[in-house]
Amino acid sequence: KYEKIWLFSGVGALILFLVVLGYGAFYMGTHPQSHGVTIDPENIEAHDAFKPENLGLTKVEEGKYILNIAASAFNYDLGTDEEGKAVKHIRIPKGSTVLFQVTTKDVVHGFNLAGTNINMMVEPGYVSSMEEVMDKPGEYTVVCNEYCGTGHHQMFATVEVY
Ligand code: CUA
Repeated sequence: KYEKIWLFSGVGALILFLVVLGYGAFYMGTHPQSHGVTIDPENIEAHDAFKPENLGLTKVEEGKYILNIAASAFNYDLGTDEEGKAVKHIRIPKGSTVLFQVTTKDVVHGFNLAGTNINMMVEPGYVSSMEEVMDKPGEYTVVCNEYCGTGHHQMFATVEVY
C-alpha cells in the first residue's frame, strides 16, 4: 500500500507542476499590454498622446506619470528639452506609477525596458500601453527587440528610477 501513496504523491506533484507552469504562461500571456487604441501611423500627431509637446514624461499627479514614446526606424522619440535637443534619458522618482504609451510611425518595433516586466511589441496602427509601478531604483535601458532594419541596434533610450 505504500507504493500507492508514492504513486499518488508523484502524480500530485506532477499535476501541481503543470498547474504552476500553466498559470505562469497564462499570467505572462495576459500581462496588461493593451492594443485597444488604433492610430494612423502616418499621422500619429492626430492622437493627443503623440503630439510633439506631449512626447516624453508628463507628471499627471503626485507619484503618477505618463511616458509617451514614438518609435520609428531607428529612434525612440521622447520629445525635446528646453534647448531643442532630443531627450534620450528619462528620470522617474522611485515608487511612481508610470503609464507607458508607445506607437510606431513605420514598421514593427519592440519596447523592452531591460530588467523589468515592460516588454511590448509596437505595431503600426496601434498604441501599445502598459502601466507599471517603478519601485526599483536603477538605470534601465530601452531596447528594441523586434528586428526593424539595419539600424535596429541603434534604437536606444534610458530610464532612470531614483
Ligand atoms: Cu526598432 Cu528593432
